[in-house]
Amino acid sequence: MEDHAEKEFITEMQREYSETAIDHARNPRNVGNIPKCDGFAQGTGVCGDTLGIWLRVKNDRIALASFWTDGCGASIACGSITTVLAKDRTIEEAKKIDRDTILEALGGLPDDHVHCAELAAETLSSAVKDYQELAKFPWKKDYMNNK
Ligand code: FES
Repeated sequence: MEDHAEKEFITEMQREYSETAIDHARNPRNVGNIPKCDGFAQGTGVCGDTLGIWLRVKNDRIALASFWTDGCGASIACGSITTVLAKDRTIEEAKKIDRDTILEALGGLPDDHVHCAELAAETLSSAVKDYQELAKFPWKKDYMNNK
């Protein structure tokens, strides 16, 4: 019975979501925080859901990116693909990752979930800004044990 319910759920998902989006929603990459990260931001979408992004940066390149969200399946897919897109990018390249980059990488999202991609893009942008601020004042990192 459970198998049947799961099959039905997946069939319904497949009507609205690409294979890539379903894969990232069901098997999200890079979940969780990065201790003593180099940049962090948490954003809240228009729906009230939150998404956090952590960055580890080496030589001005994103060596590691991770995320967490309390939001919907689409926000999980967006957070996951955003970390994949950001990894190995220079800071300047990461700044160019926007809502449309995320939507394109996911093969699109239903109209009522486009804001999930916006949330991930804005959070990444804020995490990059946080990195740039922290890079100006490296001593501040010592006070950020909760990141
Ligand atoms: S992030 Fe809130 S509905 Fe997707």
